[in-house]
Amino acid sequence: MRIDVLTLFPEVCEPFFDGSILGRARRAGSVTIACHNFRDFTTDTHRKVDDRPFGGGPGMVLMCQPVFDAVEAVEKLDLLPATRILLTPQGERLSQNMVRRLVELPRLLLIAGHYEGFDERIRIGLSPLEISIGDYVLSGGEAAAMVLTDAVVRLLPGALGDETSAHEESFSSWPLDPANQNESDDMASSAALLEYPQYTRPRDYKGMSVPDVLMSGDHARIKAWRREEALRRTRTRRPDLIPSPRKDDFDDDRR
Ligand code: ADE
Repeated sequence: MRIDVLTLFPEVCEPFFDGSILGRARRAGSVTIACHNFRDFTTDTHRKVDDRPFGGGPGMVLMCQPVFDAVEAVEKLDLLPATRILLTPQGERLSQNMVRRLVELPRLLLIAGHYEGFDERIRIGLSPLEISIGDYVLSGGEAAAMVLTDAVVRLLPGALGDETSAHEESFSSWPLDPANQNESDDMASSAALLEYPQYTRPRDYKGMSVPDVLMSGDHARIKAWRREEALRRTRTRRPDLIPSPRKDDFDDDRR
């Protein structure tokens, strides 16, 4: 997979893309990540990339020319077809399901704005997907581009050391019926649950001990316990994640 990030602050993004799992995935060749500065594409003699909004108002607006030219030039750097993504609080909210769809694509072109916003013709002319990472306003799209990249790259095959660790984490699909262990994507029989509690050594810490079942070595019991804990946690913290047609199934468990 290839990810290009267009930004006014590549120096903010680069170190993040070099660390931890992202850095390892890059070095292993699972992903190519390249940052590009809009300013390198401006035709303005003063390297200007933004201007005051027509009609008045506060702040500055990112201009069309550097963005259109940067997108055109960067897309030409590779034959892989790019999916354009504009990071904006007005976009569709990023979710684990969306991340799972994005990781299937060969190439993402992330457009991170700064200042008060973009000239509307960037949206109209480039027809990007528009993605928000949450209902709050950041001072720029860089942090959102980093969040999206991290969430996508860690799902690439081999990016996580342990292949199974992306399967049982929060928002992964769990069968709601313990008899149905073949985890399907059918929302009636599975749900994206929060992750079960994890423990490591020591067995006792400041009077808090590890649940006995985890020390039992009985893998079937451990699996059942984890499923129950994931359900319990999801019910109390994020009941909205549990699909409503099967909600009644849980009422018996609610003690
Ligand atoms: N740019 C500014 N705020 C943002 C947000 N919440 N999500 C994505 N991009 C943004």
